[in-house]
Amino acid sequence: MSSPRTETFSDPQEMAWRAADWIAGLIAAKDGPFRLALAGGSTPRLLYGELSLRMIDWSKVEFYWIDERFVPPDHPDSNYRMAAETLLRHIPAQPEDIHPMPTDGDPDDAARRYEALLRTTYRAEALDPARPLFDFVLLGLGGDGHICSLLPGSPVLAENERWVAPVAKGRPEVRLTLTYPCVQSSRVTAFLVTGRGKADAVKRVRAGDMSLPGGRLKPDGELVWLLDHDAARLL
Ligand code: 6PG
Repeated sequence: MSSPRTETFSDPQEMAWRAADWIAGLIAAKDGPFRLALAGGSTPRLLYGELSLRMIDWSKVEFYWIDERFVPPDHPDSNYRMAAETLLRHIPAQPEDIHPMPTDGDPDDAARRYEALLRTTYRAEALDPARPLFDFVLLGLGGDGHICSLLPGSPVLAENERWVAPVAKGRPEVRLTLTYPCVQSSRVTAFLVTGRGKADAVKRVRAGDMSLPGGRLKPDGELVWLLDHDAARLL
């Protein structure tokens, strides 16, 4: 198995800058809608800020989320809020193209509503590796090796039917997450990881360590690692 494409950068700002150029190029090269699945957490903030400065035909882009904390959209821990503050409020994106995960009502019902939206978008019952749902999935990586809210030891790791599921344990708040079958359905998948604290997880996940949620990921399309020197230090 050849090693996935890996790019290492001197610092998070340079990484955000170069990643924004790369993603802008992928959007420009695509005919028709570009389905972009956004990561949460803190690492993507710089990238979203850089993307907001790029000359991009945003009318082509549909925004989705890979996971969400089950809090109101204006809550400080909301992944939607983070993306809105750093990117969406600074670009001419149409409200009908922005698809945050719902965080009202019951978490299981909210997960089913988001899945229904994705299935309507995909227009088929089963995900076909030859026709990925997303054009680009951005992933962060937890120091414990989690991706999205696919947390170590969580039953959601074994979910192969649902596309979106709630995660009740493992974090202070309930989460909604794309499941493996859904998050893997992408033409390009990129890990964006910074910091010394992530170096061990980067090394193990990149080596396919199945004991870590990230190590089980098998994207349908291209996989790319974007790392700063600290996160790449054990490679
Ligand atoms: C979330 C994320 C999660 C995140 C990692 C890394 O909602 O928290 O989607 O998977 O990417 O926890 O988080 P940091 O970027 O904050 O280190």
